[in-house]
Amino acid sequence: MSLRDALRIPASAITDETVYRQRRQLLAVFAAAPALTLAGCAEAEPPPPPKTAITPAQARSGFRTDEELTRLDDITSYNNFYEFGTGKSDPSRAAKTLRTRPWSIAVGGECAKRGALSLDNLLKGLSPEERVYRMRCVEGWSMVIPWLGVPLGEVLKKFEPTSKAKYVAFTSLADPKQMPGVRYRSINWPYREGLRMDEAMHPLTLLATGLYGKPLPQQNGAPLRLVVPWKYGFKGIKSIVAIDFVEKMPETAWHDLQPSEYGFFSNVNPNVDHPRWSQKTERRIAGKASKLFAERIPTRIYNGYGDQVASMYAGLDLKKWF
Ligand code: MTE
Repeated sequence: MSLRDALRIPASAITDETVYRQRRQLLAVFAAAPALTLAGCAEAEPPPPPKTAITPAQARSGFRTDEELTRLDDITSYNNFYEFGTGKSDPSRAAKTLRTRPWSIAVGGECAKRGALSLDNLLKGLSPEERVYRMRCVEGWSMVIPWLGVPLGEVLKKFEPTSKAKYVAFTSLADPKQMPGVRYRSINWPYREGLRMDEAMHPLTLLATGLYGKPLPQQNGAPLRLVVPWKYGFKGIKSIVAIDFVEKMPETAWHDLQPSEYGFFSNVNPNVDHPRWSQKTERRIAGKASKLFAERIPTRIYNGYGDQVASMYAGLDLKKWF
């Protein structure tokens, strides 16, 4: 199978390196002429989020689910981590080369306390707690995973974001020495993701450090990855090395590759189909169900976390801002 088949993207959508470089040069020209780009920017920004607050009890009701857990073996052997290859079983085989200690994260942008921080300093005073979340992949399968992690908002507060911080941008490690997949242009490395500030501060959003009570296996994004249970799985950026507070909606890896297919918000939504497949149902890989014979169940709006998160999107056209 070719890399393109594995990615399921048409040849026309893959950017040739020359075109890519020309596009970068063009962008540089636009950057030098802000008046020209102003209209585009204004269009590209969604309306500001409504001021919402959920009660601690509302938040807690999303921290657990009684649904059957996906087996550890499936969670750790059926992965997307393109830095280690595009096949689902590549990361469990290849990610052993990822060194997760020492690890440091550069925190910057619109905040009072910037700095490069060791993993231990980043998590100082916070002890990981267990959260059992339903996870829904954009490709149509889902799992129920007992994560260990700390609320991302608790970590972000320590850096004192300023009023200009409207979004948070995340960047993964991209080291070809440790990550064989980075030698191929399956993605414009490094892998990048972003959240709006209220999404990042939401109590359900987890900076995951482990699963099934143990530190994260490399293939699942060690030592630190994002878990946002109401969004498609690809928002869960792995092996994070940089966090930046920014004023404008940041570019993300999948949007950069295929803007028409992967929006910034990527909220799980059975009413908005992916251009190439329906999002109405999902194959739930849990308990004894194998990947092939997993039960097909209806997909729920916001992956079933609407009580906790829907108010953040009141008034937002979810078809436009998918
Ligand atoms: N993060 C990085 N750095 N690289 C990736 O390729 N894949 C994403 C996301 N985070 C990815 C990533 C996708 S597409 C999914 S579905 C989830 O990780 C998969 O997480 P899991 O392997 O722990 O299930």
